[in-house]
Amino acid sequence: MTRGRFITFEGGEGAGKTTQVRRLAERLAARGVETVVTREPGGSPGAEQLRDLLVRGSVDRWSPTAETLILYAAREDHLQRLIRPALARGAWVLCDRFADSTRAYQGAAGGADVRLIADLERAVIGDTQPDLTVLLDVPVELGLGRAHSRGGAETRFEDKGAAFHMRLRDAYLAIAAAEPARCVVIDSSRTPDEVAAQLWSAVSARLALGAA
Ligand code: TMP
Repeated sequence: MTRGRFITFEGGEGAGKTTQVRRLAERLAARGVETVVTREPGGSPGAEQLRDLLVRGSVDRWSPTAETLILYAAREDHLQRLIRPALARGAWVLCDRFADSTRAYQGAAGGADVRLIADLERAVIGDTQPDLTVLLDVPVELGLGRAHSRGGAETRFEDKGAAFHMRLRDAYLAIAAAEPARCVVIDSSRTPDEVAAQLWSAVSARLALGAA
């Protein structure tokens, strides 16, 4: 059996990832592709428990280095229990955030040691690299406005301030520019229908949908 495909979705707060992951999953399922939708931090029971520690509570609850270590504990569990078994049976895994979030949030914007993050990537992710990473790019003000109007209790990172979110956006764009074979950038200030159409073209062009 051929390995499935691994697609990760990245972006700042309010970029519309969750909506677009769902829309792509529906479109793939309609073509008969087994699709697994998951998210980080989370995606396995243990990792969901770690998620609660990360996304709730006061902004300074953890240092960026402590966040990195918790995130990689969660990622290890998620990879072992959900992502690798799904890819091995040929499913397409759509993951709402993955390793680039740690590079951008904890590394570039938060100041955690980039060598530590690179070492953890190698040790934990190994060759389970995304086939495609979709960066949904949105201006910081627009994204934070969308995120605030959504409400909820998971606001720890939203509350880190405008300068943090500016660094974050720049970091994501730099990752995409450095790895163009893996990453596609989509302007997510457009309507959800327009974003979904661009996403579908990118997926069909890059992942040989005809063969799926
Ligand atoms: P979400 O709001 O997209 O579900 O993501 C939850 C929060 O976790 C979001 O504010 C970004 C943060 N996060 C990191 O800081 N580093 C990471 O590696 C991941 C996966 C998420």
